[in-house]
Amino acid sequence: MTTALITGANKGIGFETARQLAARGVTAVIGARDEERGRDAARRLGQPYVRLDVTDADCVRAAAKWLEAEYGSLDILVNNAGVARQQEHFEPSRTTAEDLLRTYETNVFGVVTVTNAMLPLLREAPAARIVNVSSELGSLTHALDPASPFWQANLMAYNSSKSALNMITASYAKELWETPIKVNAANPGYCATDLNGHMGFRTAGQGAAIAVRLATLDADGPTGAFLQEDGVVPW
Ligand SMILES: NC(=O)c1ccc[n+]([C@@H]2O[C@H](COP(=O)([O-])OP(=O)(O)OC[C@H]3O[C@@H](n4cnc5c(N)ncnc54)[C@H](OP(=O)(O)O)[C@@H]3O)[C@@H](O)[C@H]2O)c1
Repeated sequence: MTTALITGANKGIGFETARQLAARGVTAVIGARDEERGRDAARRLGQPYVRLDVTDADCVRAAAKWLEAEYGSLDILVNNAGVARQQEHFEPSRTTAEDLLRTYETNVFGVVTVTNAMLPLLREAPAARIVNVSSELGSLTHALDPASPFWQANLMAYNSSKSALNMITASYAKELWETPIKVNAANPGYCATDLNGHMGFRTAGQGAAIAVRLATLDADGPTGAFLQEDGVVPW
C-alpha cells in the first residue's frame, strides 16, 4: 500500500491532488484543519481523514502519531496548505511585519513543522517523495523581469513566502541527497480556487497534476527542483 498525506486537502488544489493520487491506487489521507470540511472531503473521495492544522505543532504531532499507528510509514507528503491573506494594500511599503508573519505561519513555518514531524515516517518508506506546493510568484527571476506577466503581481507577503519555500525545498533536498527521498517544489499555475476568488484560468485539477507527478517520481527523477507541467520554473 502506498500512503500519502496531503495538507489542506479539503478543497482546491489539495483536494484535486488527493483525488488524482487516490485514482492511482494511493491511500490519500486528507489533512484538513476543520473537522467537518475535512471529513466531508474524505467521504467524497472515499479516503481517510486526519485533523491537521499546519500552524499547530501539537496537532501536527498528533497527526504523525496517528499515521504511524495506522500505516507505520508514509510514502508521499504533499505540503499544499497555503494562504494568501487579503490585505487592504499590497505595496511593500504598506505591508506590515504582521502580514508577513501571518502568511509565513502557514506557507513557510507550517511546511517545516509538518515535514519535520513526518520525516521519521517518510524515512520508513522505501523511497518517499515530498512535494512543496509553491508558486511562480515566488520566482525571483520572474519577479525581476519587466516583460514577465508576474512583474505586476508585487505581493510581498505571499510571494516572499513562496521564495522562502523554494529555499526550504532546496535545503531538505540537500539534507536528504544521499537518501532515496526526493524533495521538489511544484508550481500549479494560476488556478481558479478560493485563494484568488476563482480568478485563475486553470482548473484546480490541472494545477494538481504537477504535484501528483512529483509525488510519484521514479528513482531517476529530480530532487531539489522547481517544476511545472511543461518543465522547469526559474528560481
Ligand atoms: N490557486 C492558484 O492559482 C495557486 C497558484 C500557485 C500556488 N498555489 C498554492 O496552492 C496551494 C493550494 O491553494 P489553493 O489555490 O487550492 O487554495 P484554497 O482553495 O484556498 O485551499 C487552501 C487550502 O489550505 C488550507 N489551509 C490554510 N491554512 C491551513 C492551516 N493552517 N492548516 C491546514 N490547512 C490550511 C485550507 O483549509 P481551509 O478550508 O480550512 O481554509 C485549504 O484546504 C497553496 O499553497 C497555494 O499557495 C495556488
